[in-house]
Amino acid sequence: MDKPYVAVARTDAIAPGKFLKVVVEDRAYVVANLDGRYYACEDNCSHEDYPLSYGCLDGDRIKCSLHGSRFSLLTGAPMDEPADSPIHTYRCRDADGWVWIDPSAPAN
Ligand code: FES
Repeated sequence: MDKPYVAVARTDAIAPGKFLKVVVEDRAYVVANLDGRYYACEDNCSHEDYPLSYGCLDGDRIKCSLHGSRFSLLTGAPMDEPADSPIHTYRCRDADGWVWIDPSAPAN
């Protein structure tokens, strides 16, 4: 896969319904496997700068463990208060047994 995509994990390292925290150039991301499709977002809650990787998945949403806001992994939109700002999502693909993300710019 060509730049700006970066290989971040083997596909078999993220089971369906699970996610993994990855770091690219000192920035942390969450990469989730939703029924065999991979999605990436920043590892940071927009509410109080808390790592989303401390939370859990709820369908196609990631839930912050500090105050419970959930964010769509597809769009980054907040689904619950107290968060009222979206998180950044990133383009994500799987190829050659790897999950690749494009950290060069948010997709949303
Ligand atoms: S820090 Fe995530 S909901 Fe408050």
